[in-house]
Amino acid sequence: MQVVKSIFDVRRVRRGLPGSWGLVPTMGFLHAGHLALAERARAENDHVGASIFVNPTQFGPTEDLAAYPRDLPRDLALLEAAGVDLVWTPPVDEVYPAGFQSYVTVEEVTRVLEGAARPTHFRGVSTVVAKLFNIFQPDRAYFGQKDAQQVVVIQRMVTDLNFPLEIVVCPTVREADGLALSSRNTYLTPEQRAAAPVLYRALCGARDAWLSGEHDGERLRQIMRAILAAEPLARPDYVSAADPFTLAELGDASRGILLSMAVRVGKARLIDNIRLIPDS
Ligand code: PAF
Repeated sequence: MQVVKSIFDVRRVRRGLPGSWGLVPTMGFLHAGHLALAERARAENDHVGASIFVNPTQFGPTEDLAAYPRDLPRDLALLEAAGVDLVWTPPVDEVYPAGFQSYVTVEEVTRVLEGAARPTHFRGVSTVVAKLFNIFQPDRAYFGQKDAQQVVVIQRMVTDLNFPLEIVVCPTVREADGLALSSRNTYLTPEQRAAAPVLYRALCGARDAWLSGEHDGERLRQIMRAILAAEPLARPDYVSAADPFTLAELGDASRGILLSMAVRVGKARLIDNIRLIPDS
């Protein structure tokens, strides 16, 4: 596995290894969810590239950029064991050199949900992901369903700007009690960790209702809110039952639904979702 810092070296290694490339973009502090992306990329491509970059432009001024957990030696060992060929670990000024002023903005689907709470977040994500696509030129790029809105935004950007690659979305990896794996789970105290599976319980409550024929969006939001309200440590930011493509809140959810939420537990802001599409 080659570990490089410069864009020049990514392109050099990329050119030297012909065949298909899969890319796994990450912000490091890897968990089993990231490794599932790397393993899928390994299975579907001749070569796998990964990036480890805590991207400052996707953090708001009051967010956890400085505190974001980092462990590069452990991350590199995990990626090597997963069969990754090339890892890019750039310094910030390699990605955003002095004078940088060009951004990719995806519009409507970034104004709601996470975008409403974090107004500059998706501009940072789409910009860095566009740069990663241009630098690595992968045939496929792998993202987790855990960040459902990120997936919608990136798919929109790839379609709108004609990036020649396939976006592969991998299922959310969960702890045994349902908590979605996230690098930010490390912020939870033991008591908060015990409360955190309430997000998945709330999503499952709405999912089961939807599967039993409850397709009223407001009723599904109420089901999730009621389950969250029973957990005193959970402070919901939003609870959503939205169209899986436009992310508009739904009244009639019979044609498919993205159930999602952001909930504060202690100083962690946890997100989770379940996507339901009827069999065609
Ligand atoms: O999902 C993430 O970890 C980040 O948003 C990404 C896609 C690596 C861009 O910084």
